[in-house]
Amino acid sequence: MATILSGKNILLGVTGSIACYKAADLASKLTQEGANVTAILTSAATKFITPLTFQSVTGKRAYTDEDLWGSEGHVQHVGLGHQTDLLVIAPASANTIAKLAHGLCDNLLTLASLTATSPILIAPAMDSGMYTHPATQANVEILKQRGVYIAGPAIGRMASGLSGYGRMLETTEILGHIRLLLGRQDGKLKGKRLVVTAGGTSEPIDAVRTITNRSSGKQGFAIAQAAIDQGAEVTLISGTTNLITPVGAARIDVNTAQEMLTAVLEAVRDADALIMAAAVADYRPETAVEQKLSKDEGIPTIHLTLTADILAAVAHLRAHSGYPKVVVGFAAESHDLIERARQKLIRKKLDLIIANDITAADAGFGTDTNRVTIIDPSGNVQVFPLMTKEEVANLILQKLIPLLEAAP
Ligand code: CTP
Repeated sequence: MATILSGKNILLGVTGSIACYKAADLASKLTQEGANVTAILTSAATKFITPLTFQSVTGKRAYTDEDLWGSEGHVQHVGLGHQTDLLVIAPASANTIAKLAHGLCDNLLTLASLTATSPILIAPAMDSGMYTHPATQANVEILKQRGVYIAGPAIGRMASGLSGYGRMLETTEILGHIRLLLGRQDGKLKGKRLVVTAGGTSEPIDAVRTITNRSSGKQGFAIAQAAIDQGAEVTLISGTTNLITPVGAARIDVNTAQEMLTAVLEAVRDADALIMAAAVADYRPETAVEQKLSKDEGIPTIHLTLTADILAAVAHLRAHSGYPKVVVGFAAESHDLIERARQKLIRKKLDLIIANDITAADAGFGTDTNRVTIIDPSGNVQVFPLMTKEEVANLILQKLIPLLEAAP
């Protein structure tokens, strides 16, 4: 599957830190995502890890300072700095950060950094005292002012055994920051504001019990990530799920359908698009008991009442304000898929509906794959084969982009 990283040339600078082992994992994951990764190790980095490690996971030559003084040395750094879409320095030591801030270039990595025409992302890794030292803070500030993207560091346990601010971000987080940065550069949804809902709502019965559904939130979260990959500003309104927030998404957690309604209406006021992937409860207990119901009180009778239809409320808002410009809904069906989805498309005034048959074992709630049918207001019906939820997310965005381009 093509991702934002497919075919991207990434120069990975690795400096002296115990976090070098995470850099090998990062190089591996970037390569698996289709990026061409060229590593440059500083001399200090080679004390922790070897170029062979990077060559093995990237399939490409990794460079050290020996190459700087080799036969091609005089042009090596310029070539490396120019042929890249993104320069990532992870881990970035206090020493390298200081050199970059002041334009020093006494090794292949700092030389390549000075010649780089691409954006630069650095992931600091050092002892807490070193990171919070005014000298390092001033250097980081200089780099930020110059447009360098600083990812992390995090608070956590460090090599010294102490806990503090300076631990390099985990590989998946750095990957998230890389995707965010690449999307902002050349994504097709740059400058667009998208609201995505995900997961199931949860309607309280009493102090401990709720009525919820089996939605995992995976499809909505995948859509949020795919939109960030395309440079969109994403608000992710999430029901119950334990998924990790995509880096760059502004996440709002809600429990009930009513809370989701309030959050959606607020978020879409100036949004370009709403993608309503959440599984919203259609009914809720009329009254939620404040205490925990006890068996001593006998078997309770729970009276249900309808929740508000969020998409209907959005259609009403849109009719008055023109926002959101495009609305995409989902239809989870167990029978008469196309006909029921078509009716929902019309009833909820949608620009697109993504229908899925939740009775299929490999699609719908909780799975990593989905099998969708996409229907538009002109009656076009497109049936797609089994795909990963990430592929479905990209497909939905592919359909959304022209709709947004055509929107007033
Ligand atoms: N939806 C909504 N508000 C609700 C219920 C659903 O906005 N109270 C949205 C869902 O997020 C989805 C679309 O409406 O995008 C269709 O949801 P679905 O559960 O398939 O349909 P319902 O409207 O609940 O209709 P039915 O119960 O007849 O299937």
